Amino acid sequence: MALDQEYSPEELERLDKQFIWHPFTQMKDWLVEEPLIIAAGYGSYLEDVRGLRYLDGVSSLWVTIHGHRQEDIDRAVVEQLSRIAHSTFLGLSNVPAIKLAKRLVEIVPRSLTKVFYSDNGSTAVEISLKMAFQYWRQCQRRQPSKNRFISFINGYHGDTVGSVSVGGIDLFHKIYRPLLFKGIRVHSPYCYRCHLCKEYPGCHLSCLAEVEETMERYQGKIAAVIVEPLIQAAAGMIVFPPGYTQRVRELATKYNILFIADEVATGFGRSGALFACMHEGIEPDFLAVAKGITGGYLPLAATLTTQEVFAAFCGEYKEKKTLFHGHTYTANPIACAAALASLKVFERENTIGELQGKIAFLRNKLKSFGELKHVGDIRQLGFMVGIELVRDPDTKKSYPYGAKMGIKVTKEARKRGLIIRPLGDVIVLMPPLSMNYVEMEKLLEITYYSIKAVTER
Ligand SMILES: Cc1ncc(COP(=O)(O)O)c(C=O)c1O
Repeated sequence: MALDQEYSPEELERLDKQFIWHPFTQMKDWLVEEPLIIAAGYGSYLEDVRGLRYLDGVSSLWVTIHGHRQEDIDRAVVEQLSRIAHSTFLGLSNVPAIKLAKRLVEIVPRSLTKVFYSDNGSTAVEISLKMAFQYWRQCQRRQPSKNRFISFINGYHGDTVGSVSVGGIDLFHKIYRPLLFKGIRVHSPYCYRCHLCKEYPGCHLSCLAEVEETMERYQGKIAAVIVEPLIQAAAGMIVFPPGYTQRVRELATKYNILFIADEVATGFGRSGALFACMHEGIEPDFLAVAKGITGGYLPLAATLTTQEVFAAFCGEYKEKKTLFHGHTYTANPIACAAALASLKVFERENTIGELQGKIAFLRNKLKSFGELKHVGDIRQLGFMVGIELVRDPDTKKSYPYGAKMGIKVTKEARKRGLIIRPLGDVIVLMPPLSMNYVEMEKLLEITYYSIKAVTER
C-alpha cells in the first residue's frame, strides 16, 4: 500500500529524479537505480512509500538515538509548536534554548561553560575555528601570529569551506585545496595501516612524536589543534589506541595551543560515554556537537567553550570584539525542545547504563565476522562499528575504488531488509542506542550474510 495520499510510489520516484540532487551521491547512478523513498519510521525501523520495513542500521546517518517516533520527543515538539515554531536568536532569546544551554553545560566536560548554537556539524566546527582564531587576537596576552590549525590526516569535520580546510580525506577534500586556508596536517593513528609500520602496543604510541615535533616547530603560529576524539568516523571508523587523544590534549596544553574536540559524530552516547572525551578525562577548549543532540529529530548544533575564551570576546561595543557570526535558524525553539526531551530520556531510561551490555554483545558477535574471507579489520568504539573489506587480507590490499564493494554490500543488505551506508569499503554499523538485542541480532546477521554474498561469490 502506498503511504502517500497525493502521489504513487512511481510518481514520487519520477519526481525525485526530475528535481533532486542528492548529497554525496553519484547522480548518474542514482538516475538509473530504484530509489528508496522513506515515508515513515518507528523505533529501529524505517518504512518506505510502498510500506516495506527496514532496520535502520546507521541511525539515519548517525543521528537517531532513542529510535524513531520516540513518544516524549514527539510530544515535546508538538507542545513547542503550540507556543512558537521560531523566533530569532540575534538580539532575542527563547525558553527552550536557555534550558538546553544550562543542561548541556551540566553534562559536558567541566571546562566548558558557554554555549553558542548553530544548526549542523560543519557550522559547529566552523564556529570553533573562528573563535579560536579570533581569541588569539583579543585575549589578554595577544598573539595574532597564532593563526594556523593542526588537523589530522583522515579527519573529517564537515563540508563548509572552513571545516574542509581542516579535513584530511583526499577523496572528499583534495579538489577544493586551492580554495582552502592552509593548515598543518599530521598523521593519525590508523593502526591497521600504520604509516610507521609498527604495532600497538609495542609502538608505545611513537606516532605522537610527529604531533609534538609539529607543535614545537610551529610554536607561536598555531591557534588550535582539531581532533575527532578517540575515533575518526567518516574516514571509516578509525579507532585511536587508548590514551592517544588525551596525549594530544596534554601536548596542546604544553605548547599553548587550543584544543577543539569535534564530537559531532561521537556525542550523545554514541561512543559508549555521553561524550568521547569522557573516556579519557579530556577537558577541551571547544566542543562541537550536532547530529545526536536532538535525538535525531531536527537540525541543531552547538559549539561549547570555556569562560576564558568567552572573556576574550567581551569588551566595549566600540572595541569590535564581538563574534560576528550567526545563522538565521540559530537555536530554533522546536529543535531545542526536542534536544531537552532527548536528554530527559537519557536520564529516565538510563540510556548510557543500558548501552554497556549492548556494546559488549556487539563486540562479542562481531568476532565471527573475522571468519569472512575479505574482512580485513573490525573496529568498534561503543555503538560505532567499521568493518573494513579488503581484496587480500594477507597483504591488506584494497579493492579498486570502482569495484564499489561497500555499495554492493549495502544493496544486498537492503534486499534483506536493512539500511546501512558504507564509507568506501568500510561497512558501517551505527544503530540507534535504543536498538534491542533481537534487532541487533538481525542487524548483524543480515550484515554478515550480505558481506559473504558480495565478497565470496
Ligand atoms: C566528526 C564530524 N564533524 C562534522 C561533521 C559534519 O556534520 P554535518 O553533516 O551536520 O555538517 C560530521 C558529519 O558526519 C562528522 O562526522
